[in-house]
Amino acid sequence: MVATLTQAAPGAAAAVRLPRRRVLPCLPTLWPSMLAPRLRPRPGPFPFAWPDARRYYFARNAAFTAVRVLGLERHEVLVPAYHHGVEVEALEAAGAEPRFVRVDGRMQLDLEHLEASIGPRTRALYVIHYAGFPQPMEEILAMGHRYGLSVLEDSALALLSRDGEVPLGSRGDIGIFCLYKTLPVPNGGVLVMNRPLDAPDPARGAPLGSTLSHAAGSFLAHVALRWGPGGAAVRESIRRTGRALRFATGLRTLSTGTTHFDAAAADVGMSRLTEVILDNLDYDQIVEVRRRNWSLLYSRLREVAPPVHHELPAGVCPLFYPLVCEDKEWAAARLLARGVETVDFWRDGHPACPRGAFPEVDALRRGVLELPLHQDLSPDDMEYLASAVEEILS
Ligand SMILES: Cc1ncc(COP(=O)(O)O)c(C=O)c1O
Repeated sequence: MVATLTQAAPGAAAAVRLPRRRVLPCLPTLWPSMLAPRLRPRPGPFPFAWPDARRYYFARNAAFTAVRVLGLERHEVLVPAYHHGVEVEALEAAGAEPRFVRVDGRMQLDLEHLEASIGPRTRALYVIHYAGFPQPMEEILAMGHRYGLSVLEDSALALLSRDGEVPLGSRGDIGIFCLYKTLPVPNGGVLVMNRPLDAPDPARGAPLGSTLSHAAGSFLAHVALRWGPGGAAVRESIRRTGRALRFATGLRTLSTGTTHFDAAAADVGMSRLTEVILDNLDYDQIVEVRRRNWSLLYSRLREVAPPVHHELPAGVCPLFYPLVCEDKEWAAARLLARGVETVDFWRDGHPACPRGAFPEVDALRRGVLELPLHQDLSPDDMEYLASAVEEILS
């Protein structure tokens, strides 16, 4: 699908004023009640309750380990041309050789191209569930079975999401999850083994300074969300001080959300603080709120900007609402001016994936901006967000 959201004439966006609001952060936020240690925590949903899982600092560490565990070194792995880039770096760093497969404008893997790309050196199929929406696992697993290939299910963008009743990431040989995109945790990536395999536990603990710094950032985002413009000002000034301190002391943190794989951090595990927060979350409610918010945005925006997905299938836990724009930098700046934080989704892929070879992927990379719909946001927030989008497009 090609972008059709057009840029308004200069000055038009300023014509209608929305009420002055607090900041809507792009990620869910942390607040102190989530830090209470639980003596008898309830078992979480998949993948948390799964016995054969390893808990890392990043999901990229899980992708790296998966190559080793499945013996994919010096073998070809078929990877969707629409990818973040860091997961491909992790596969390469572990010794696998990625080869890219077409994804269409609706973020669906092209199964015909996938099958046609299987060659004598292919050993695995790498599947990515985009924004919480499932890829056709039945067909992909059958293809893997027919050709004797492993299937890696990258659910970094699909934690808590299901295809009907079946959790995404539970059917491939290996499932990969990123926690901090969906939940207010400072770090966390999970490797799930869905058949008998033996991945090592992470050798090192999460660095405390990095964990606390991310947790503090998330708490400040909460302050900005709940305390209006005053909260946003507090957040900004503390952030500025933090940056200055880091610069002055030369303190380096192990940052989440970065775009490159660092093999030196491949054996770092999830923090204890993440575990504590996981015990305090209401997962059913998180899924319910995200689904409600997606539906609210869809009902307001489907006429204004063509959506990527036209329905919300049963079980899906949407990660964000993909707004397809002609000029996403322009749209992001105008939404930020209205207090809405967005994410420029996957503008650049891995350099080994040739630009121009997959035109629909290039269009998605140019066009998709993530609109937040996470569990901290209310129906009023969704109304506000939809109005802000309508306003900048008017
Ligand atoms: C599809 C996909 N897989 C893996 C990752 C790696 O996640 P992490 O940042 O936890 O390493 C990302 C990161 O955005 C991703 O988008």
